[in-house]
Amino acid sequence: MSQGSALLRPVTLGDLVLPNRVVMAPTTRCRGCVPSELHALHYARRAAAGLIIAEGTWISPQAIGAYPNVPGLFAEEQVSGWRRVTDLVHALGGRIMVQLWHAGATPLTLPEITATIADYCTAARNARRAGFDGVEIAANGTYLIAQFLNPRLIRRTDAYRAGPRLLLDVLDAVLGTGCRVGVRLSPYWTATDSTPACPDYVPDEETLSRYDDLVRRLDSLAYLHLRGPTRFDLDAFTRYRKLFDGFLIANNGFGRESAEAAVESGLADAVSFARHFIANPDLVTRFALDQELSVADKAFNYTGGPAGYV
Ligand SMILES: Cc1cc2nc3c(=O)[nH]c(=O)nc-3n(C[C@H](O)[C@H](O)[C@H](O)COP(=O)(O)O)c2cc1C
Repeated sequence: MSQGSALLRPVTLGDLVLPNRVVMAPTTRCRGCVPSELHALHYARRAAAGLIIAEGTWISPQAIGAYPNVPGLFAEEQVSGWRRVTDLVHALGGRIMVQLWHAGATPLTLPEITATIADYCTAARNARRAGFDGVEIAANGTYLIAQFLNPRLIRRTDAYRAGPRLLLDVLDAVLGTGCRVGVRLSPYWTATDSTPACPDYVPDEETLSRYDDLVRRLDSLAYLHLRGPTRFDLDAFTRYRKLFDGFLIANNGFGRESAEAAVESGLADAVSFARHFIANPDLVTRFALDQELSVADKAFNYTGGPAGYV
């Protein structure tokens, strides 16, 4: 048993009480466009997480990217499918938010951007109707919002100029729906759509200072979910801890000991895990008992069906 584990100490996230700081990171698993009994089982088995952030979920048909069989929150059947998931997680004592995703596959004109912001709001309202405890705006990776933020990705001809405006407008609008809202950023993102992630990439000062300015402006959010560098580096989070005194969730490459260190030192309030939760639905128990972790078989990441998923 881990005595005095910082990771297993309860914490409040606004008015939500999390019994531990072990967060399940969003993981796209391509198990269907409409959440089914399979999704319910998957999330229910992980309900002991301090917080589940459900997989990237399309806000509208226009938001859909290259991944097939990804759920949305724009059709009634998706709302009721998710309701079954959230009811089960809540019945088991868990908390569950959902990541709102727009792939940004094609540049948008100004009227389309206005419509897209409205789509975020509709999806957030649907998330509430589906019983979610809040939404996470995906501003990470190579997707729509990150395309305006990260100089490595800026190649757009949209009416909005590159910069934080799109994200800030989306956040304002979604906060206006009364939802609990978190945001996910990846300032250290290395890959574009066509190049693989580079573990040695160090972002330049221009990139980092853009993100610094943005992070300083995120004070009304439930949390900031920060994906660290591809090559694990706890120190990378120090910069953001100084800029953001809200609830900070650290991610990317953490194990039990490094996560303990992050929370114990105050660098993060919680740590999220993707691959460990894929392979270990009982991750919180394994951490508590200091048990060995199983390793996920990547072959099942996006295959559909129960194998390697439940
Ligand atoms: C199968 C798989 C699916 C993922 N899907 C998403 C997603 O939907 N949204 C997202 O922001 N990140 C996604 N990620 C990234 C993870 O949330 C996380 O940032 C990454 O795996 C590093 O965390 P880890 O070291 O705990 O696995 C995914 C990762 C994996 C392995």
